[in-house]
Amino acid sequence: MNATIYIGSGTCGLGAGAARTEAVIRRFVREHNLTVEIVPVGCVGLCSSEPIIDVKMVGKSRISFERVTEDNVIALLEPLLLHEQLPDSHILGQYRDRRCEHWVNVPYLDQHPFFARQKRIVLQNCGVINPEDIHDYFDKGGYKTLKKVLREKAPDEVCEIVLQSGLRGRGGGGFPTGAKWEMMLAKTDKEKYLVCNADEGDPGAFMDRAVIEGDPHRMLEGMAIAAFATGATKGFVYIRAEYPLATLRLAKAIVQAEAAGALGKNIFGTGFNFDIVIRKGAGAYVCGEETALMSSIEGLRGMPYPRPPFPVEKGIFGKPTVINNVETFANVPDILAHGAEWFSTIGTDKSKGTKVFALSGKVKYTGLVEIPMGTSVREIIYDIGGGTPNGKEFKAVQMGGPSGGCVNKENLDIQVDYDSLLSIGAMMGSGGMVVMDEDTCMVDIAKFFMSFITRESCGKCTPCREGTRQLLHMLEVITSLPCTDSEEEQVYRHSLLEKMERLCRVIKDASLCGLGAAAPNSALSTLRWFRQEYEEHITEFHCRAGVCPLDNKLPQVNNASDSSESPNEPSGNDSDTSE
Ligand SMILES: Cc1cc2nc3c(=O)[nH]c(=O)nc-3n(C[C@H](O)[C@H](O)[C@H](O)COP(=O)(O)O)c2cc1C
Ligand code: SF4
Repeated sequence: MNATIYIGSGTCGLGAGAARTEAVIRRFVREHNLTVEIVPVGCVGLCSSEPIIDVKMVGKSRISFERVTEDNVIALLEPLLLHEQLPDSHILGQYRDRRCEHWVNVPYLDQHPFFARQKRIVLQNCGVINPEDIHDYFDKGGYKTLKKVLREKAPDEVCEIVLQSGLRGRGGGGFPTGAKWEMMLAKTDKEKYLVCNADEGDPGAFMDRAVIEGDPHRMLEGMAIAAFATGATKGFVYIRAEYPLATLRLAKAIVQAEAAGALGKNIFGTGFNFDIVIRKGAGAYVCGEETALMSSIEGLRGMPYPRPPFPVEKGIFGKPTVINNVETFANVPDILAHGAEWFSTIGTDKSKGTKVFALSGKVKYTGLVEIPMGTSVREIIYDIGGGTPNGKEFKAVQMGGPSGGCVNKENLDIQVDYDSLLSIGAMMGSGGMVVMDEDTCMVDIAKFFMSFITRESCGKCTPCREGTRQLLHMLEVITSLPCTDSEEEQVYRHSLLEKMERLCRVIKDASLCGLGAAAPNSALSTLRWFRQEYEEHITEFHCRAGVCPLDNKLPQVNNASDSSESPNEPSGNDSDTSE
């Protein structure tokens, strides 16, 4: 074997044409009778540079190439594989590897601006190992921690370590994971369940999918440790059917882990049993909400129901159940391997560890970013993401999906942690981060999220079902409905913002589940930071981003006696100039 070629074969890589690139590579290898192994890997995080391929020649360090398409791959590989010469373009960087000779004049991948400020715990193996081969995970120390925990620790010790580490749920709510596990451990029921929430319904979020596609065993190892700590007897991974590649790799990983004795009966000969099964969801956003998710796993329609009782008291089929997010579980092996103190030194006072964000939208480098909590939004967008392209001006970043809010230019230095973001009406959510520039209309953005929420509301309670529709209607009036001369309509338009704010409060306070409680956030947040844009739409019929179909013409008040009077000015009767 004189080389190994790693092909970024996550959903992003395949979408960018990695399969076609791979076909050309295979043909080239065959034609030249080369001894080359071709290995699929997940996404290394830099989705905007896909297809990415890495080449590892014997004795030399692994080197990454970006945008390797079926058209340019031969020009890149020919000099390298046949003459050990580097091509002069498409090089992303080389991996550090003390055992190998490095390439001269090639920067290290960890010096690339996109990677330099990241701290990779959850993503450390993504894009590096073959997710379809458990031996690659073993080579990185995989399942060693589980083995050690099962042999050397008691369940309450594991809960205590996770509690002390300060790990909080990465699915959005930020509940302390160790505390949830302790509550479950205290339950004496014969059957207890563990659920991994891989529903990931937020538009703009793809972190959980990428973790499962790139390193499924990390999450499974985290689940097995959690099962031991809580006494769970069976595990479910709830994943949406729109994630076929992640589901396939997860299924393969479960089979391989069982065959290796890392899951199933008598794990690593310790007498501990734990099975994990996959449950596919149909892709309704509300099914990420934990009570709806549990109903869906039970085979019922995924509709939320009131809490308490919380899942840990009465969960799936009435049994105690712990639900955690993919990223939460993926942090667990490293916490147990390196200790609570190690983890709690990363991040801020109340938000420990790192957080993975899916950075997308109007930013130079899009992809997966894992940063220590406390990093500022500015650093993520400018230092890591490379800022807005084409000289356009940054306007806002939408965080936390439909339940989240916006960070505007003035707040760019806010640090990323659960509490700081909430203080400006945004939220970390599960980690979607969509960057917007001057070409984005913030009222239109609020309309987009409200339209999503309206479609995804399960309809069970009136404030959410009807309230979100009314909110959407108001946003439609502001952004698109043609303006008539009717005075009544104009009065209505001028009262809209106040009405919206009142309605938002009612929906927030009176909805049954988290979907409704967070539904008005996008409207509230854009109203808070971009009120001027709303007012321009309403009073000047002007959309500064040029997105909304407004004609920029002020309507005439339907008052025949004085057609020159602007509807925006007080009527003559109210004026005191005659006095
Ligand atoms: C409407 C709605 C959608 C949600 N979607 C997800 C999701 O896709 N993934 C997720 O982990 N949590 C989601 N959550 C939060 C979960 O209900 C739950 O709190 C979380 O999975 C707990 O895991 P954690 O403690 O590890 O964060 C959602 C909540 C709501 C209200
Ligand atoms: S708040 Fe919305 S999604 Fe939640 S139960 Fe009520 S109608 Fe359904």
